[in-house]
Amino acid sequence: MTSRADIDVRPIDESEFADWSRAMNIGFLREPTLGEELLEARRAQFVPGRTVGAFDDGRCVATFRSFAQELTVAGGAAVPADAVTNVTVSPTHRRRGLLTRMMAQDLAAAKERGDVVATLIAAEYPIYGRYGFGPATWTTEWTIDVPRAGLDPRWAGPEDGGRIDLVDAEDVRKLGPELHERLRRSQPGAVSRDELWWQLATGAVRFHATFHEPFHVVHRSAAGEVQGMAAYTTDDTWGDAKQPLNTAKVKWLIGVTPAAERALWRYLCSIDWVVRVKSGYRAPDDLLPHVLPDPRAAAVTTQADWLWVRILDVVRALEARTYEAAGALVLEVADAGGLAGGRYRLEASADGAGTCAPTTDNPDLSLDVADLATLWLGDESAVRLAALGRVREERAGAARQADALLRTSRRPWCPDIF
Ligand SMILES: CC(C)(COP(=O)(O)OP(=O)(O)OC[C@H]1O[C@@H](n2cnc3c(N)ncnc32)[C@H](O)[C@@H]1OP(=O)(O)O)[C@@H](O)C(=O)NCCC(=O)NCCS
Repeated sequence: MTSRADIDVRPIDESEFADWSRAMNIGFLREPTLGEELLEARRAQFVPGRTVGAFDDGRCVATFRSFAQELTVAGGAAVPADAVTNVTVSPTHRRRGLLTRMMAQDLAAAKERGDVVATLIAAEYPIYGRYGFGPATWTTEWTIDVPRAGLDPRWAGPEDGGRIDLVDAEDVRKLGPELHERLRRSQPGAVSRDELWWQLATGAVRFHATFHEPFHVVHRSAAGEVQGMAAYTTDDTWGDAKQPLNTAKVKWLIGVTPAAERALWRYLCSIDWVVRVKSGYRAPDDLLPHVLPDPRAAAVTTQADWLWVRILDVVRALEARTYEAAGALVLEVADAGGLAGGRYRLEASADGAGTCAPTTDNPDLSLDVADLATLWLGDESAVRLAALGRVREERAGAARQADALLRTSRRPWCPDIF
């Protein structure tokens, strides 16, 4: 067996992209060899310096890629993020520290570049906590039993003068990016999308041999403004006695007003033949169940952690977001990765703005940098983490005070997987 030191971890050059892609497919248990066309399409994601491989005897055995992203925080500001993806280590080379080496290099480079956080969607819960990542947003998927929902089957479109139209993929590529920009700039936990996202979502660019073309709908307000969009696929399931039993699967749905969200869900639950709607990954406090007369018709089928965050710069992370109350907190942040540890004083004013600076004051709360990430977007309770022994109160009542400052009235949500 090759010793650890002989395995070279480094950015690949473009000529190594096919070998790197093969290794990634192996790690994700997909057919190893990509056809020329798919390989060419994937090259669009090659970023020199940020597409990293581990090489054993000249063969790629591990992959890692990061790219520039923006992440929205409470109050609507966006921070520069180092988005981590395509992480694999071949089964022959696991548990020899290759991920640890690739991650250490990437996080150091991100810190150096000035990124405030790193982000990822974790395949398995136990992988990333050791690198200082904490789950910062959660997701819920519902399956709606349409006949049970109690909706009037005579529905003929939004009651407020708005309308819903079926559109083509080209319209989605034209209208989608601007709509999404509006959503993500007001949705804590949302991340930026590039043009390639829309091309992949609509099949203009394909990374996989099969693509199931979705139906696309656009919601416009009575004034004609685009306020929502959704993509869904359906299966072709029929029961005995010619009974239609189709399921509509929502691939993505965005609405920038409650009226748009309500109208899109109403539409999805009004399609002839469709008896079941799978919502896709939504915010845990999505309006969805409550837009149905019988919310119990929407059963939770998935509830899981979603966006993981690694704070690289505590001062900028805490100053970027707004706060729900005025107050001051001193945080003692432990960081085994040596990137963001220290003692910080956060001061939130009545207008919601926060300032933060290193301090020598006595701490109110002690916590790991991963748990700070979990609290940062406002989704988790410091009191709950204290009960779990993950946050320590150095001053009685400090966890409760942290919740008053940090928690938000609506939960953060990341609509994307990357
Ligand atoms: C997850 C994966 C990338 C880990 O790579 P690796 O090179 O084996 O990881 P390392 O050797 O650097 O592991 C570091 C530590 O994390 C632990 N660890 C790694 N993967 C783990 C997992 N899936 N579950 C639990 N612990 C894990 C290791 O045991 C090791 O612990 P130790 O330091 O106490 O010995 C690899 O197993 C893999 O490719 N899995 C399939 C694809 C995948 O899930 N990718 C992640 C996509 S988000």
